[in-house]
Amino acid sequence: MTEVLPDVAAARKRFLEITRAGTSLGLVPTMGALHEGHLSLVRRAADENDIVAVSVFVNPTQFNDPEDLKRYPRDFEEDRILLESAGTDLVFYPDTEDMYADGYRYKVTEVENSLLLEGAHRGGYFDGVLTVVLKLLNITGADRAYFGEKDWQQFNLIRGMAKAFFLDTEIIPCSLVREDDGLAMSSRNARLTPAERELAPAFHRILAGSGSPEVKTARLEEAGFAVDYVEEREGRILGAVHLGRVRLIDNVRI
Ligand code: PAJ
Repeated sequence: MTEVLPDVAAARKRFLEITRAGTSLGLVPTMGALHEGHLSLVRRAADENDIVAVSVFVNPTQFNDPEDLKRYPRDFEEDRILLESAGTDLVFYPDTEDMYADGYRYKVTEVENSLLLEGAHRGGYFDGVLTVVLKLLNITGADRAYFGEKDWQQFNLIRGMAKAFFLDTEIIPCSLVREDDGLAMSSRNARLTPAERELAPAFHRILAGSGSPEVKTARLEEAGFAVDYVEEREGRILGAVHLGRVRLIDNVRI
């Protein structure tokens, strides 16, 4: 039976009992609206640790668009059932006042890579991500924390933060999970209209195809996407596009 911890103080106590007993703890941070991509992280954590905790917290400080925060899909009961079936022992499900008792006066900022790619299009985004992940790692004291390569830049920044602040948690990357037609799984896919959903796999197809970033940008625009960026970095091609009201990101190894 999966245990739900809705309160930071009680959760800290529970996590401390676990880590003090010498039991290995794996953490999978999420914002809920779970799909097979998230669950692949949970199953990996279950394979590699005695106890698996998943956090479900829609982190307001990483949304620069209040509408996007409002529309973010939420269904905790459904998430809880999925997590139970994937082998989750503990679900940490805090509320915003508890996580941000300081009113977000304190934050973690990376001043270089966080300003590129996603950071260039979403002001303050990675401050919000890094700050909440640091809180989650401190609350849980996890031995390992699992992040998807879908959010490649996020994973790299979190790994960099763990190194910079001498955190004890090992930061582990997990493969990107796609739908059969190639679309990267994402909680936001549920908000695509049927016509947009049909067009969406072309994003990955064009990104993974031949040509320079400029050529791919032109092909995406021709297909009907509004392109935020297509860029090559560290042997990967990364992209972000808008399709109607939904923003999609993806990346592939070159
Ligand atoms: P969220 O978008 O819910 O994603 C939670 C984790 O699942 C992230 O590590 C993300 O990279 C991974 N993930 C999402 N879709 C995936 C897919 N198709 N394949 C593999 N992994 C996938 O990312 C966040 O939440 C937040 O920024 C968070 C780290 C929880 C901080 O608030």
